[in-house]
Amino acid sequence: MTGSGPAEPAAVLPGAAPAVPPAPPGAAQVFGDRLPVLEAYAALLAGAGVERGLLGPREAPRLWERHLLNCAGLGDLLAPGQRVADLGAGAGLPGLVLAAARPDLHVVLVEPLLRRAVFLTEAVDALGLPNAEVRRARAEELVADAPALALDAVTARAVAPVARLVGWALPLLPVGGRLLALKGARAQEELDAAEESVRRAGGTGARVIGVGEDSLGTWGQVVVVERGTPASPGGGRAPRRGRAAGAPRPQGGARGRTAGSTPSRAPRTPTTPAPGSPSTATSRTPAGPASPPGPTSPARRSPTARRPGGDR
Ligand SMILES: C[S@@+](CC[C@H](N)C(=O)[O-])C[C@H]1O[C@@H](n2cnc3c(N)ncnc32)[C@H](O)[C@@H]1O
Repeated sequence: MTGSGPAEPAAVLPGAAPAVPPAPPGAAQVFGDRLPVLEAYAALLAGAGVERGLLGPREAPRLWERHLLNCAGLGDLLAPGQRVADLGAGAGLPGLVLAAARPDLHVVLVEPLLRRAVFLTEAVDALGLPNAEVRRARAEELVADAPALALDAVTARAVAPVARLVGWALPLLPVGGRLLALKGARAQEELDAAEESVRRAGGTGARVIGVGEDSLGTWGQVVVVERGTPASPGGGRAPRRGRAAGAPRPQGGARGRTAGSTPSRAPRTPTTPAPGSPSTATSRTPAGPASPPGPTSPARRSPTARRPGGDR
């Protein structure tokens, strides 16, 4: 699979089990023409993923609601063409979901455990994702590679508390680059507790943003922390010249698409939150001109409401 054309039907996947939950109706709306790729990934997770102990057997029936759709909400915060590292990708959540749903992104799946890194490599191959690569490493080991990785954002789900994540993620990012940590209902609480760590790591603009839509199963709370100036304690590198972090990458090849063009994931256009938001402010809508229904929309869930995905 390359570029943004319609996805090929699912390839034969090693370890795929027959008992794969069907995609719920909302999945077609969320993933658009990428749905077949996500279905193939679901089959892989329910098969080899469960067999190899990367996913609990009880997770298989709720793969879509608790995992795939939940992770898809993060895409709201990624501009077209961005380069992303998913720390502690595990079986590929959220990194593989993002790579499968958004061919315009380039996603580095960072995972230290061999068994999981092998699964990820097989999945990338089986799903035919030229925009994804696997790094078997701990997050803290990647700093020397940061210039080559040229990341715009770092994602993480269920890997570590925000206080630790900022120390891993921010040194990998240029000024303005963002940590996007998918969290559960207590996201704000966790961010508040991490205030000192955020400051020490050189983070700025820390806040919680609600993404996705409850009616589609993509709703979630994301802790966003921006990389501040290099003078901040915690190390780091100077701002990258040229394209500002968060701005669309120049086009060409499978990595990007024309700035302002519509990503293949229907129906939403990825947006980036407005820079300079007050520290630890809570926003329930991704900012930007193409934002989905605002805070008064009944489709959105209260930021304090629990949802089944929780903080895994
Ligand atoms: C609970 S799993 C979550 C996996 C996946 N993100 C998810 O949501 O299903 C945590 C993952 O983080 C990885 N991990 C632990 N410490 C790490 C580190 N220092 N750097 C990168 N990954 C790490 C583990 O190997 C494991 O795969």
